[in-house]
Amino acid sequence: MSKRVLHVVGARPNFMKIAPVMAALRAVPALGQTLVHTGQHYDEKMAHVFFEELGLPRPDFDLGVGSGTHAEQTGAVMVGLERVLAEVEPDLVVVVGDVNSTLAAAIVSAKAGVPVAHVEAGLRSRDLTMPEEINRLVTDRLSEVLLTPSRDGDRNLLDEGVAPERIHFVGNVMIDTLLAHRTHAPWSDVASRYDVAARKYAVLTLHRPANVDDPDRFATILDRLSAIGREMPVIFPAHPRTAKRLLEHGLIDRARYLRMVEPLGYLEFLALVDHAGCVLTDSGGIQEETTVLGVPCFTLRDNTERPVTIEQGTNTLVGADARGLGAAFAAVMNGGGKHGRVPELWDGHAGLRVAGVLARFLGLDSVGLDRPVAGAAGVPQ
Ligand code: UD1
Repeated sequence: MSKRVLHVVGARPNFMKIAPVMAALRAVPALGQTLVHTGQHYDEKMAHVFFEELGLPRPDFDLGVGSGTHAEQTGAVMVGLERVLAEVEPDLVVVVGDVNSTLAAAIVSAKAGVPVAHVEAGLRSRDLTMPEEINRLVTDRLSEVLLTPSRDGDRNLLDEGVAPERIHFVGNVMIDTLLAHRTHAPWSDVASRYDVAARKYAVLTLHRPANVDDPDRFATILDRLSAIGREMPVIFPAHPRTAKRLLEHGLIDRARYLRMVEPLGYLEFLALVDHAGCVLTDSGGIQEETTVLGVPCFTLRDNTERPVTIEQGTNTLVGADARGLGAAFAAVMNGGGKHGRVPELWDGHAGLRVAGVLARFLGLDSVGLDRPVAGAAGVPQ
């Protein structure tokens, strides 16, 4: 009997996570896939370019929810997705990451009685002031299949009382996408467009409400970033929220030592990060990408849900107000930065492992998908 999986994506970091999962599931016989884009991100440069570059199929449904408050956005996804679930009647819903679309899809699917699989389960910052932490907690609580990127994810879920047989340590799907595209990321184009030489510049991304919504906090951060901007070019592809706040708060002049550019597509951004001297960010995923690329990463946050990037990778927390940035940057410039290693199962095959787990969950043939998958107790399943 055939089965149908429905995938839900909505915001920029979701697209690179779903691509390897959908690609791997194409090999499962008797499995149909439906892709829903909630439209949480909708600009060409925040969404559409990723579909093209990552070879994602056109979404079967586009809910077009757009921006709004958390309740408006989450509610709009729930209303739209409830109708889609009634029409498609999937056997399983796959959600990725920790954005509002992820949370909304988990709630509405669980209430419709459709099992949910969460890719990137188990990550915890233990900081409930972050909307993403609430999204992670609720999504994991409602998911039947929990696919973790790192061992800390397994431990967090076990500590919360999740049954070990529901936890599958599969590795990091976002790294599948990175490794698949790294060799054809257009470095020479990017280098000439921004007039930069390898390792002689920094890349900056900043978009967390906690960092950019408060004018005083944002001004302090800009001053600390500007100290780096006087030492080397800082290329700053600005998220729309950040660009808007710079104008609203009258802070454009404070950013004059930063080279602000439009948001970049996946391949250009990958080329830029891969050749950077260091990366300054408050993003979640970029902490992981820099760890695999071996580029020093300074994270402008007080905590991270991705501790493996600090313990094993190239990531250093410099505080949400960037107070530790100067010292951390000086250490790297003096050759004392972290070198790090690639965490376990961040090997480019996580999508296959996810597909194997999902095929078995649905009672389908998973031959050819098997890569070593370790369960929560470390026992291959
Ligand atoms: C969302 C996620 C965050 C993720 C980030 C990646 C939540 C709670 N947050 O944050 O975890 O790290 O995506 O980018 O889900 N906007 C545009 N065009 C777009 C999208 C957004 O102009 O295509 C502007 C709008 O002014 C909007 C604002 O950006 O109000 C914020 O967008 P939103 O999706 O609410 O949250 P992000 O900050 O992007």
